[in-house]
Amino acid sequence: MKIGIFDSGYGGLTILEKIVEKLPQYDYIYLGDNARTPYGSRSFEVVYQYTLQCVKKLFEMDCQLIILACNTASAEALRNIQQADLQRIAPSRKVLGVIRPTVEKVDEMTASKTVGLFGTSGTVQSKSYEIEIAKLFPHITVVSEACPIWVPLIENNEHTKLGADYFVKQHIDRLLEKKCEIDAVILGCTHYPLLVKKIEKYLPQNIKIITQGKLVAESLENYLFRHPEHENLCTKNSTVEFFTTESVEKFVSSASIFLKQKIQAKKVFLG
Ligand code: DGL
Repeated sequence: MKIGIFDSGYGGLTILEKIVEKLPQYDYIYLGDNARTPYGSRSFEVVYQYTLQCVKKLFEMDCQLIILACNTASAEALRNIQQADLQRIAPSRKVLGVIRPTVEKVDEMTASKTVGLFGTSGTVQSKSYEIEIAKLFPHITVVSEACPIWVPLIENNEHTKLGADYFVKQHIDRLLEKKCEIDAVILGCTHYPLLVKKIEKYLPQNIKIITQGKLVAESLENYLFRHPEHENLCTKNSTVEFFTTESVEKFVSSASIFLKQKIQAKKVFLG
């Protein structure tokens, strides 16, 4: 059986890359719901329904374990899927998110105990980061800024162009206006690592940037170690298959830029 990595579009590739680097032995299926991206500006109910549909598809494709490599889906759909749907649709399988592995490392990244969060409107409105951080580190203050334009810039491959600078700087300035003690900032959207060069350009140097790929990969390794009932079922032929709900040609050309290698993909129909 395989490990499924799901995102609304290309963003989850930043997570997949780090997971495959750390755990190359497993078989992976990546599913991007590119036809319906972005999720970040959609309602809670819609994000939940879309995510559930993709999770069911990945189970049909023989995934034992699924990582929602999407903060919006992790924030708005994960809890419902874990608590209400999993028991009904696949009681012996597992769905994990990207917020918890990130939150667990936050305390060691901040001296001022004030962290910034960049995320989609959905992630920011859900307050998932504030809630999870308060459970583990109640002394940390979270200041968030929704960046609704960043994902479309990336999905349309405009993120390296000059026009992107304006929108990156705008949201950094807005975040820092809210609280200047911030000394670390979470890129709480799996798309955002693709903007990291521009973020570094406008963010003061004393502010650390927390990206999720490595943290999620470490957390998955740890999870598989602690759960042999899942690990033993995962096949180990070092394969990665890519699926998209959009056109294959479009996915392959953009995904290849993000992964810096040529890949093949197949179209998937969600029923
Ligand atoms: N990559 C996603 C995230 O981490 C979602 C972006 C979107 O579809 O709006 O939030």
